[in-house]
Amino acid sequence: MGTVTEARGRVQTEGVILDNVRTPIVLAPMAGGPSTPELAAAVGNAGGLGFLAAGYLSATDTAARIAALRELTETPFGVNLFVPGAPTPPEHFAAYLDRLGRRFPLGEARFDADAWDEKLDLLTTEPVAVVSCTFGCPSEAEIERLHRAGTEVWVTVTSVPEARVAAETGADVLVAQGAEGGGHRGGFADRPEEDGADPLTTLALVQLVRAAVDTPVVAAGGIATGAGIAAVLAAGAAAAQLGTAFLRCPEAGTSALHRDALAIETPTMLTRAFSGRRARGLRNQFMLDNPDAPAAYPEIHYATGPLRAQARAADNPDAVNLWAGQAHTLADAVPAADLVRTLTEDTKAALQSALSRPFESC
Ligand SMILES: Cc1cc2nc3c(=O)[nH]c(=O)nc-3n(C[C@H](O)[C@H](O)[C@H](O)COP(=O)(O)O)c2cc1C
Repeated sequence: MGTVTEARGRVQTEGVILDNVRTPIVLAPMAGGPSTPELAAAVGNAGGLGFLAAGYLSATDTAARIAALRELTETPFGVNLFVPGAPTPPEHFAAYLDRLGRRFPLGEARFDADAWDEKLDLLTTEPVAVVSCTFGCPSEAEIERLHRAGTEVWVTVTSVPEARVAAETGADVLVAQGAEGGGHRGGFADRPEEDGADPLTTLALVQLVRAAVDTPVVAAGGIATGAGIAAVLAAGAAAAQLGTAFLRCPEAGTSALHRDALAIETPTMLTRAFSGRRARGLRNQFMLDNPDAPAAYPEIHYATGPLRAQARAADNPDAVNLWAGQAHTLADAVPAADLVRTLTEDTKAALQSALSRPFESC
């Protein structure tokens, strides 16, 4: 966190951690396997900002990963948390699970808060440079607690109203996640009644958020090259957050099935079929068979655990959630440090090339 000043009636932060990284590249946190201390360390040591995903982990496992990462790097890094929502009444998803249960093994459709309180306690007693929050905005008091621990707080937003709330609640940085991005939509709520309207894409969202609030923005979604990074920097983002581009790096914990599938030209689509929350992944039969899966997270995530595990063990890509952004075929199987270096050089070249266009005033 940088110097805090009063500006336009609310507290603003001058100078965030991104002002001190060597390259404006953020490794997206990727829960469920891909995020590892090795991947975060490789990105941090190469000059970007590494992230650990703490989603689905206990506080004890989160602490172990933070300790492992500290062994590998002295650079600052972030930890990502899922902000808990509310339980969904069982009648909203009973018919869906009845249907799935006739064909697949299912687990208990339970609700939990993803150990939010325990992980917040951990991160305030053993602070890290950045805590980013997904699926909601922490309360002002929770943000205050993290600030007092010396931690910068980032909040994922997918719309302008969410950006306003996060900025007013005290977020230091907004992660603007466009619809192209892989994995779960990280906005505050998942509302099927809004499916009729297209979710905002990365470039549109970054421009809109920049026009609406003064808080620094990190752009995420569909960015996989230096040219893509240059585009969001030119649009006013302080950095680009890349997820899918790192999934095939050897340091990532991505499964072999997922790695192989990413390299094949397959369309991606948004689905609630696996988790009960909208997420983008490689289109497969399970998604196509369940286009009207209800919104019930994390209940459906827990219920489909056994069916996903069974498909993974059988090497069957048709019943596994293969999260991926739209630019997934650009993900190369190269060491993360090499990727950060190439992206950095290509970003500079793309910005220079853009400047070589004619810009005479008319
Ligand atoms: C496999 C995978 C897992 C993800 N898990 C998380 C997560 O745990 N927390 C989070 O905030 N975002 C998560 N995301 C979303 C990323 O933070 C980011 O928004 C997204 O990767 C950007 O789009 P891209 O994949 O096209 O680069 C995940 C994305 C992927 C591909």
